[in-house]
Amino acid sequence: MQIIRQADLRPFNTFGVPARAEALVRFSDADQLRTLLAAPDLAGLPRLFLGGGSNVLFTRDWPGVVLLNEVPGITVMKEDERHVWVKAGAGVFWHDLVLHCVDHGWGGLENLSLIPGKVGAAPMQNIGAYGVEIKDTFHELEALRLSDGALVTFDRAACAFGYRESFFKRAGKDQYAILHVTFQLTKAPHTLNTSYGNIQQELDRQGITHPTIKDVSNAVIAIRRSKLPDPAVLGNAGSFFKNPVVSEALAQRIKADHPEAPTYPAAEGGVKLAAGWLIEQAGWKGHRANSHGVHDKQALVLVNHGGATGQAIYDLSEQVLQSVKARFGVELEREVNIL
Ligand code: FAD
Ligand code: EPU
Repeated sequence: MQIIRQADLRPFNTFGVPARAEALVRFSDADQLRTLLAAPDLAGLPRLFLGGGSNVLFTRDWPGVVLLNEVPGITVMKEDERHVWVKAGAGVFWHDLVLHCVDHGWGGLENLSLIPGKVGAAPMQNIGAYGVEIKDTFHELEALRLSDGALVTFDRAACAFGYRESFFKRAGKDQYAILHVTFQLTKAPHTLNTSYGNIQQELDRQGITHPTIKDVSNAVIAIRRSKLPDPAVLGNAGSFFKNPVVSEALAQRIKADHPEAPTYPAAEGGVKLAAGWLIEQAGWKGHRANSHGVHDKQALVLVNHGGATGQAIYDLSEQVLQSVKARFGVELEREVNIL
């Protein structure tokens, strides 16, 4: 068990902001994690589990231990004529799992191609893109309860998934380490989901008339590359805010002034607005303050141009939030985990 003291967290957050952790450790199974949790050297320190660090913003040093999850493996648990149940270690990179499934002809994750990060964090905010969320194919997950080291299985209902929400961000916050996630995927023929955004347009552009899950995955990858910055080139954590859900009345007032404003029915009732559109209308798209700013192709993404601190990016997010509130009366909520 190696404990790195005063660890530099820059390589472990895709914003690339500077921060140090009191201690940093790695684990790749439940027993290693139990040993770490019981280690006298780490006793009493606050704990932070990290996968790929693609949904966090460090605004200061972390006054505790960072536990890097490296639980490996992709295994078929069972299958029948129509389905295959695939269990992945929390430390597998999400996009590697998607490609593995697509290449084996297992359908259901293809719309979620190219989302950064690791499998273990995916249930935290029920990752979603292009009309699909992980709750749609989720079967169960295995987590280690930090209070007693017991392994606990959560089915879909127990995870209380919502839009960028789960039990693990609410009542279960900081109480579990997710170790494995199992998905129920389809065998061919698959039901493809190509109605969202411009997937169909992208397939048409490529001249594909009978798409496979691989074609859908490639289309999603092409669309994402055209809009979202690659964290290896430009530090970011994807959408900084959630798309807000507002009352019908407020949505209608905004539509009266801006008939072009994108709106979507929200699963939980009310109307979902596009935060990127609101932020662009408030004048922030492409805004740059030396070291950091708002992405010029997607206003929902805050970026580190180089040398930004987490606090500076947080302060910018506060300015954006206040100006959208003043202009439209809409309160944005941060999607990124602020530390
Ligand atoms: P981290 O950032 O390491 O952790 C995120 C949170 O989960 C933290 O609170 C952490 O403590 C906790 N956590 C991590 N692992 C565990 C574990 N094993 N057990 C318990 N808690 C854990 N998200 C979407 O939903 N859809 C998108 O389309 C999307 N696009 C993105 C595009 C870009 C360019 C970027 C940079 C990000 C994007 N994201 C998107 C956000 C991000 O990729 C996801 O939230 C991803 O699931 C985060 O994974 P991670 O391993 O990097 O998590
Ligand atoms: N828009 C603008 N200006 C902008 C950005 C967007 O007008 O600067 C408009 C677009 O024209 C479109 C609408 O807003 O009409 C929605 O934009 P887009 O399709 O790019 O998606 P999004 O709502 O901004 C969400 C997710 C993304 C996910 C995409 C694709 C949230 C918070 N974000 O973005 O997830 O990849 O849809 O499904 O729900 C993430 O969570 O980190 C993330 C990147």
